[in-house]
Amino acid sequence: MSDKTPITRLTIRRPDDWHLHLRDGDMLQGVLPYTAAHFARAIIMPNLVPPVVTAQQATDYRSRIMAALPDRMSFTPLMTLYLTEDTDPEDVAQAHAAGIATAVKLYPAGATTNSASGVRDFEKVRPVLEKMAEIGMPLCVHGEVTDSQIDIFDREAVFIDRVLKPIRKKVPDLRVIMEHVTTQDAVDYVRDTPKNLAATITTHHLIINRNNLLAGGIRPHYYCLPVAKRERHRIALVQAAVSGDPRFFLGTDSAPHTDPAKLQPCGCAGCFTAPNTLSCLAEVFEAAGKLKALEAFTSLNGPAYYRLPPNEETISLVKGDPVTYPERIDTGAGPVTVFDPGFSLHWHVEA
Ligand code: NCD
Ligand code: ZN
Repeated sequence: MSDKTPITRLTIRRPDDWHLHLRDGDMLQGVLPYTAAHFARAIIMPNLVPPVVTAQQATDYRSRIMAALPDRMSFTPLMTLYLTEDTDPEDVAQAHAAGIATAVKLYPAGATTNSASGVRDFEKVRPVLEKMAEIGMPLCVHGEVTDSQIDIFDREAVFIDRVLKPIRKKVPDLRVIMEHVTTQDAVDYVRDTPKNLAATITTHHLIINRNNLLAGGIRPHYYCLPVAKRERHRIALVQAAVSGDPRFFLGTDSAPHTDPAKLQPCGCAGCFTAPNTLSCLAEVFEAAGKLKALEAFTSLNGPAYYRLPPNEETISLVKGDPVTYPERIDTGAGPVTVFDPGFSLHWHVEA
């Protein structure tokens, strides 16, 4: 069946989420079931307070995630270590060899939520990066400069030239994932790089541009980092996602914050997309006439880059009446608003 014949049912390998914030405590308890309902595995971001820096902290955090998982659900958290200027290359190598940490996360200091312990001087982390290159451990990168002189809408493009290219030149065997790319610049850079570079794309960046965030009133629930860009960038992201190019895959960056934390004069960055991500994505891929490319984006390209087998289980998406999902969920930490794509969703994940 070609994409010209309307598809109303799509069975794909069970997806993974290659960039996810689960938080901790009551928030973790509240949000985890939404991811575990649809995803087999996820790369878990380490930006807790304090951050997950050591192998021991990753082991403990993993245990708390597993303890929060409802009995009937199965889910595998793939842990990451938060790179600091004091990170010990041997601790990282041991955590990787022991299966405790799948990847390391690089936050430029001050780039985003809880990134104060991130990297200021990239030379200081070079021994860690060299060790990772040697053992084939991937580096997940938050690709924005933090220089206050650089306009926030340019921070990703500038990061590529100022930070990413030099790092990749110095440590060419390092396997890098540029996370949550938001620009045509990043898409082009990844597409033009034949080796050791891939990118995740979020659900919300495929759907919103900066007008959705700012025109006609400020919409804090669309505020995330990297901030949504112009429409031409969103279109470039959609083209990359639906292209089937194995270097692009889903990292939802579902990043829950309570409504009181979002709705204040200086509100937190992050969109909570876990409950309706797959329905949103099916809608985006269908609109592009590329529904059949969804599986590569959600379920095949990520495992291939991370050198893990794809999931054996499948899920089915079925087109029907508008999908209902809660406008917000209640967690023990407070209410969390669910991402509103701004259009109705028709693709149901079959139970
Ligand atoms: C993330 C968070 O809240 O932890 N926020 C976001 O806007 N994406 C941090 C991040 O991934 O930048
Ligand atoms: Zn994130």
